[in-house]
Amino acid sequence: YTAELDLSDIGKGTYPFYMLKEIDEQPTVMRHLISEYADENGAMKVDADIIKAIQASDRIYIIAAGTSYNAGFGAKQMLEDLTNTPVELGVASEWGYGMPLLSQKPFFIFLSQSGETADSRQVLVKTNELGLPSLTVTNVPGSTLSREATYTMLIGAGPEIAVASTKAYTGQIATLAFLAKAVGEAEGNEKAKAFDLVTELSLVAQSIEASLSEKEAIANIVKERLLETRNAFYIGRKQDYYVAMEASLKLKEISYVQCEGFAAGELKHGTISLIEKDTPVIALISNNPEVAAHTRGNVMETVSRGAAAIVIAEEGVAREDDDIVVNAVHPYLSAISMVIPTQLIAYETSLQRGLDVDKPRNLAKAVTVE
Ligand code: G6P
Repeated sequence: YTAELDLSDIGKGTYPFYMLKEIDEQPTVMRHLISEYADENGAMKVDADIIKAIQASDRIYIIAAGTSYNAGFGAKQMLEDLTNTPVELGVASEWGYGMPLLSQKPFFIFLSQSGETADSRQVLVKTNELGLPSLTVTNVPGSTLSREATYTMLIGAGPEIAVASTKAYTGQIATLAFLAKAVGEAEGNEKAKAFDLVTELSLVAQSIEASLSEKEAIANIVKERLLETRNAFYIGRKQDYYVAMEASLKLKEISYVQCEGFAAGELKHGTISLIEKDTPVIALISNNPEVAAHTRGNVMETVSRGAAAIVIAEEGVAREDDDIVVNAVHPYLSAISMVIPTQLIAYETSLQRGLDVDKPRNLAKAVTVE
């Protein structure tokens, strides 16, 4: 059990670093979002104009950078399933040079913790010139991207001060879940109607709390298998692949371990040549039995080449000897619960290496230049 933290508190309190405080705040963020976007009967409270605009569109384009880009992937499948609308992701810095051929009726979602990322704004300026509808999903009310987009949804995660983003990632996916369900319900989508988001997100909050109580175990794993390494891999399939991308970004940002997030099945098509004795390979295996068996096969392939495997598995497909077991949640929300141990791995690796966890070299919290 973790006490509810005050999300408006910008002090570090007894925490050594903001990042750890922000990781710990995530159950509170989930519960806060439930109270923001659902009423006491569990009905969605999402701006009707946003719902109509998405219903009128034939494709959703999510534009973002860094961790927010990874959050977009974490929500893609859910958005597609519940809204019956294809979702395409765009790296803001690339789309700034010119957009690919767009669908007939595009709807743009700008995901940005700060709401100030210049790369994302550059694309927003273009969509505004084209007169296209847009929604900014951000943590900062009144931010540039919020002011300039047609609509805004706030993730209400409270100030995020550590450069490495944690609660904004999980908050963005949760916010998009409310959006997806609200649009899906308006469409009469059966999956959207059946998806009890309030209950499921409460379970996510509990799953996060359970993972947060594993800090000591995670610190030991880091000490034994990650402390001395120069490189590492995260692997996963489907939803876990997207989490692998975010997990590796987090590790790179604050521990300076060169890390790649890979689609587990793709590793053997080239990059497995990098596996040497004791190369850490961290596998993410969420509760999808079909996929889980294949990812386990990929783990064996790397172990037989000397890799030091670390398995993070979700209840339902977890085995006794797995390193970290995550409490089961609804598959649409597994990117939220599966990322938690990886945030703690990044935090611990940075901490044990004696680095400045909150202020990694060369990085800024918000990048306001293109
Ligand atoms: C910077 C930060 C990243 C962040 C990215 C996008 O590079 O260091 O942590 O993910 O910008 O920021 P945004 O505020 O747009 O989500």
